[in-house]
Amino acid sequence: MFELSHWHPVCRLSDLKSKPIKKKILGTDYVIFKTKSGVGIRESRCPHRRMDLSRGKVLGEKLICPYHSWGFDIHGNIDSPSIGKVECRSQGFETKEKYGLLWFRSPNSTGFFPELELDSYHKIDLSEKEISAPLEIVLDNFSETEHTSTVHAFLGYSEEDLKNVSIEYSGDGTTTHVFNKGRQKKIPFLIRWFLHLDETDEFVDDWTTYFTPVHSVFDQYWVEKETGSKRKDALKIYVFFVPIDESKTRIFVFTYMKYNKLGNLGLNLMVKPAMKFIVRLEVGLDKSIIESIEDKNVSLKGCRLSGFDRVLGMNRTRIQKVYRGLDKNEGNHD
Ligand code: FES
Ligand SMILES: [Fe+2]
Repeated sequence: MFELSHWHPVCRLSDLKSKPIKKKILGTDYVIFKTKSGVGIRESRCPHRRMDLSRGKVLGEKLICPYHSWGFDIHGNIDSPSIGKVECRSQGFETKEKYGLLWFRSPNSTGFFPELELDSYHKIDLSEKEISAPLEIVLDNFSETEHTSTVHAFLGYSEEDLKNVSIEYSGDGTTTHVFNKGRQKKIPFLIRWFLHLDETDEFVDDWTTYFTPVHSVFDQYWVEKETGSKRKDALKIYVFFVPIDESKTRIFVFTYMKYNKLGNLGLNLMVKPAMKFIVRLEVGLDKSIIESIEDKNVSLKGCRLSGFDRVLGMNRTRIQKVYRGLDKNEGNHD
């Protein structure tokens, strides 16, 4: 499958205990297991008689199938108590443990690992969510800020200011980029205070979406209305979109922040928990609105799109061409 030539996040490393776990990715169930020397991932269907390997257990360096005790190591080698080494077409995957996640891709793939560029940012949170909607529909939500007026509690624009939000788009063959700027919607005084914001500050949401694998990198910050100068505090949010199957998508959300006002103590005691709460809340609100969409057909035909939506079609084109490696799509949306 072409998509698996890209590095995909699988699960949080902290979720990997002594018991194997099962995750569906791109329609296939995988078992993930941890031995002393590393982490293995393979299809969860046993190649012998299709037992669910996630019901097995790890002994030494092997995952043991609970049915006839075939053993599977983290490199994809298999042995059976009755026939010894088993030659099998199913292979292991390349794996990487980074940023608190397990990542995998097909062996012998080329292409870069999606490194996070964090320079002076502090880690706030890493969360994982399953959303009952196809990849395109989930990405749509994270690709426009029009919904922030109605759906979001804190981050975004208010309904009366939407008309004045500036929207800029660009894209090359493999990425799309959006820049939005407009007056920050009303937020409680305490949050404004610890973020050092003024009531009239403008909120900038500036993001790029990449497609190897599909992920968006959001730079979010505030500017002072009068002077146009950038506030020192800023968020950097990475969202990775992993199709579970055609109707579900798993997202991994990394939240990072630059923070100055209250120093490290304030950051750790107040700002981190507050921003973790805020971002998780917004993503939860996104999930519930996405899941309420009446028709989750991924085609945009017949939709009356607004100025905020232009990037949706551009993203679809790149999902088909760059992520899925397909030439044909429902039309070039660029
Ligand atoms: S089904 Fe797994 S060893 Fe037989
Ligand atoms: Fe949202």
